[in-house]
Amino acid sequence: MYSLEIYHDAISLATNAVRHIIAIANQAIKADGKFSIALAGGSTPRGIYRLLAGDDYKGQMDWERVHIFWGDERTVPPSHTESNYLLASQTLLDHILISSNNIHRIKGELKPETAAETYERELAHFFRPSKGAFPKFDLVLLGLGEDGHTASLFPDTTALNEGNRWVVANHVEKLDSWRITFTPGLINTSSNIIFLVSGEIKSEILHFVLEGDFRPNLLPAQLIKPLQGKLLWLVDQAATSKMKTK
Ligand code: 6PG
Repeated sequence: MYSLEIYHDAISLATNAVRHIIAIANQAIKADGKFSIALAGGSTPRGIYRLLAGDDYKGQMDWERVHIFWGDERTVPPSHTESNYLLASQTLLDHILISSNNIHRIKGELKPETAAETYERELAHFFRPSKGAFPKFDLVLLGLGEDGHTASLFPDTTALNEGNRWVVANHVEKLDSWRITFTPGLINTSSNIIFLVSGEIKSEILHFVLEGDFRPNLLPAQLIKPLQGKLLWLVDQAATSKMKTK
């Protein structure tokens, strides 16, 4: 099951996404003294990260208790224009007071499998999950690609069927590149998952993912079903233009 919130436009979507992030963060900090969030890459979150770092909202987060991770990364150095870390730095991290110890970057500059294993060790050190359990994020932010991918879980790729690992190197043939990505099992262990989908360009894929047949190998976003947590789709009206039930 999931909740769907439809907003008039991208700005209203961003404002309400920030509202949700702050609420989840403050609830986690109150309960556990810290908040773990995995950021999404791509362009949709830009406005959300900028808003969160802006004067209207940044004071509503206790950044000393916030730990920032990434749900996926490209296999590039952190200074590369393709880097999801760079995106978050330019829009958020460079504009808030947060310790470098709280920034848990995927080292995309390493060999893909080394980067994945290194990140799994970082997650193990931070979360210290019990044996055989997945780390439990407070919040994972996700985007939706026009081909139905989310994080770097692309159609017809091996990561879709990974049942034990937390983070894997995933070869994406159509991009002719490797990506580092959370696995479905790690994402689905989260307490909260928020999809961010904006624009007419996403209307067809959103219809297929939410209303179409269950075809996860073709539509990997359909693999995202939290075991115990909450799944929230934050979308704008343009993205829902092909949905039948809304
Ligand atoms: C990435 C993202 C990816 C993204 C979707 C949507 O590394 O690119 O993690 O999953 O969220 O491709 O991207 P847009 O927001 O740019 O449409």
